Amino acid sequence: MYKSYVSNLKDEPSVLVFYVNGKRIAIDNPDPKVTLILYLRRNLYLTGTKEACSQGACGACTVMISYYNHHQKKIMYPLIQSIY
Ligand code: FES
Repeated sequence: MYKSYVSNLKDEPSVLVFYVNGKRIAIDNPDPKVTLILYLRRNLYLTGTKEACSQGACGACTVMISYYNHHQKKIMYPLIQSIY
């Protein structure tokens, strides 16, 4: 079952869509090895986000994301570490 599911996904086009500072970003077939911090710094030239400890301890790579929580009917703003 799992194998079949993976092979079906393999044939599907994959697009990752998100917004950065209000700008829509759509990436076709995103590389799963590219972290958010790499994408922000190398592709969007947003170098304010830093990579320091690379272990989730210092907070230098912290970014804020937002999403709509349908159950609570409000926008949530969790902080994440962009190195993962
Ligand atoms: S680089 Fe230190 S927490 Fe991300």
